[in-house]
Amino acid sequence: MTTPSESPPASVTPLRPLNKAAGAMPGAAALEFQGLRKVYRLGRGKPGKEALRGIDLTIPHGSLFGLLGPNGAGKSTLINILAGTVVKTGGVARICGIDLDSHPRNARGAIGVVPQELAVDPFFTPRQSLELHAGLYGVPKKERRTDHILEIMRLSEVADASSRRLSGGMKRRLMLAKAMVHAPPVLVLDEPTAGVDVELRKHLWEVVRNLNEAGVTILLTTHYLEEAEQLCDTIAIINDGRVVAKDDTRALIQRIDRKEVAIVIADDLLEVPEDLRTLDAELRGPRTLAIGYSRKNNEIAEILDDVQRAGLTILDLTTEESDLEDVFLDLTGRKAARTEEPGQDEAGRKPGPDDAGAVEGGGD
Ligand SMILES: Nc1ncnc2c1ncn2[C@@H]1O[C@H](COP(=O)(O)OP(=O)(O)OP(=O)(O)O)[C@@H](O)[C@H]1O
Ligand SMILES: [Mg+2]
Repeated sequence: MTTPSESPPASVTPLRPLNKAAGAMPGAAALEFQGLRKVYRLGRGKPGKEALRGIDLTIPHGSLFGLLGPNGAGKSTLINILAGTVVKTGGVARICGIDLDSHPRNARGAIGVVPQELAVDPFFTPRQSLELHAGLYGVPKKERRTDHILEIMRLSEVADASSRRLSGGMKRRLMLAKAMVHAPPVLVLDEPTAGVDVELRKHLWEVVRNLNEAGVTILLTTHYLEEAEQLCDTIAIINDGRVVAKDDTRALIQRIDRKEVAIVIADDLLEVPEDLRTLDAELRGPRTLAIGYSRKNNEIAEILDDVQRAGLTILDLTTEESDLEDVFLDLTGRKAARTEEPGQDEAGRKPGPDDAGAVEGGGD
C-alpha cells in the first residue's frame, strides 16, 4: 500500500538517454558476453565454485531482456561482473561494444547497475546521494536531473530525509535512481522487484517500460515468471552457470508442447477409468479429470472421443496454455517461485539440466 507521499506524479516524462557513452561502437550490441566464466575461490586446497561456465549472450540495443534461473544459477555473478564487484575468470564482456577489460571506465560509463543486495549510504539524503553519484560520473551540474529522477522514483517527499529513515521499498527505488543519474544507455537490474509490494512492483514496471520506450536497453533478472512474461521481449534462462535457452518470450512459451485439459463430468468417479489409463490423466476431484497432452501428437478431439467412449458425460472443459513456469520446469528441472520466497520450491524435480541440450539451439 502506498502512503499519500508515495502517490505517483501527475505525469512522468520518460527519461531520455543523455549521452551516447564515450567510446561506444556504432552498431554494436548493448551487451555482449562471449565464453564468460567465473570460478569463485573457496580457500586453499578446496576446489573453486564454477558459477559461470561459458556464457554466450548478445543483447541488442532497445531490448528489454529477462534473465531467469533458479537460486545459484549465476545471474548475480554475471551482473556483478558488469558492475565491477566481481572479477571474471575468463571470457569477454562488452558494453555498447566497449571491452570491459581494456576500457573499464568507458564501459561502466555506458551502464547503470542496480545490484540485488540493498545498499544505500546512511549518511546522505536521497538528493545528496544522487548529486554525489552524478559528480562521480562527471555529469555537469546543468545536465543533472536530480529532481526529475526523484519524482519519477516517487522519492520527492523524502528527498531531504536521512536515507536511514527509508523503507526497504524506498531504498530499492533510491538504488535505481542512482543508477539513472548518468543517463546510461544500458540499465541492468538484479531482481528489481524482489520483496516489494504489488503496487510498487507495478510502479517499477511502469518505470522500466518508460525507460525502455525512451531507448534504454534493459537487462533484468527476476524470479517472477509473470514479471518476465509481462515485461520482457526476450528471455534467457540460465542454470548452473550455463544458458539453457534463449528466445523471444512468446516463442519460448510455445516451445513447450504440453497442454492440459480439465474435463468436468456428470458423475462422481473414484479413480481414472481403465480405458483412460493410457492417457496422462488424473482425478482433480470426483468430477474433474485433468488430462495432459502434446499439441503436436495428440488432437484434443481424440481425447474427448476417448472420454466419451469410456462412458463419461462431459459437462464442461477448460484448457490451460503453458506459461513460463512450465518452460522453466522443462528446461531446468526445477520449479520457479511464484511467491515472495524466490526459488524455495524445489519439489517435483524432473530429469534436469541435461535435458536442456535439446533446446539449446535457441540460444546464441
Ligand atoms: N563470493 C562468492 N564466493 C563463493 N561462491 C559464490 C560467491 N558468490 C556466489 N557464489 C556461488 O556462485 C553461484 C552463483 O551465485 P549467484 O549469486 O550468481 O546466483 P543467482 O543466480 O544470482 O542466485 P539468486 O537467484 O539466489 O540470486 C552459487 O552457487 C553461489 O553460491
Ligand atoms: Mg542473484
